Amino acid sequence: MVLLDGKKTANDIKDEITVSVNEMIARGEKVPHLAAVLVGSDGASLTYVGSKVRACERVGFNSTLVELPETTTEEDLLKTIQGLNKNNDIDGFIVQLPLPKHIDEQKVLNAVNPNKDVDGFHPENFGRMALEMESFIPATPYGILQLLERYQVETKGKHTVVIGRSHIVGRPMSILMSQKGPAGNSTVTLTHSYTKNLSEITKQADIIIVALGIPEFLKAGMVKDGVVIVDVGISRVPDNTKPRGYAIKGDVAFDEVSKKSSFITPVPGGVGPMTIAMLLKNTLIARKRNT
Ligand code: GUN
Repeated sequence: MVLLDGKKTANDIKDEITVSVNEMIARGEKVPHLAAVLVGSDGASLTYVGSKVRACERVGFNSTLVELPETTTEEDLLKTIQGLNKNNDIDGFIVQLPLPKHIDEQKVLNAVNPNKDVDGFHPENFGRMALEMESFIPATPYGILQLLERYQVETKGKHTVVIGRSHIVGRPMSILMSQKGPAGNSTVTLTHSYTKNLSEITKQADIIIVALGIPEFLKAGMVKDGVVIVDVGISRVPDNTKPRGYAIKGDVAFDEVSKKSSFITPVPGGVGPMTIAMLLKNTLIARKRNT
């Protein structure tokens, strides 16, 4: 079994980005600037956004965190987005999801200038991605492709089963894995809550990408020997033995499934760090594109 080490791979990518930033500085160019909008004070979102800001510092980017109260109206959030769209100093920005219930998430994402949409969530970028045109690829799927590519995991002609059809991970992943090109050319089955006999399908999979948010959902009895496992889950499970009172669990029962796997991502230290690295990569691309 080979561990798909997202922490190490993300650090390699961050080092590559740092080299590009240093070259930009040497040429007297402006360094990339990422902004993140956080509405409310959800614990997990605060952690993720904090990691994104720290990652910017690590590679030499400028970063701005826009923190808005939970009670922010949709109108005020849309105004903030218009401000970021117009601000020439900001190369790319993200709106951390989920948003409070009184705000229409899709309306907000539609308001982001597609050229600054480094999360790749705007319909224009999503459509361009599906058509294999140049676009911003959502950071988590992009990170998974990079992991598979850099570990030379064969995807061509393989059967990939994606579990979960979220707009952020499952749906784009299913599109990308079937595309022509590196980490593509796979035969993809996209499964979800209405899928019948899921185990029968997952047992036929060469590669399984799980993005459900249900801790330790995928068990050893659901996979065949030699399977490649990508675990996107990251749930906080109460655990009094941990200093913070919770443990981080993926969607895969790692101890038992890893014994049958050829490659597997750990949680934490798998897909999570890759997501952040690819967000930085998209911001670098935005900077170069907007020059
Ligand atoms: N919430 C969970 N994942 C993501 C992500 O990739 N981007 C944003 N903006 N919010 C998220």
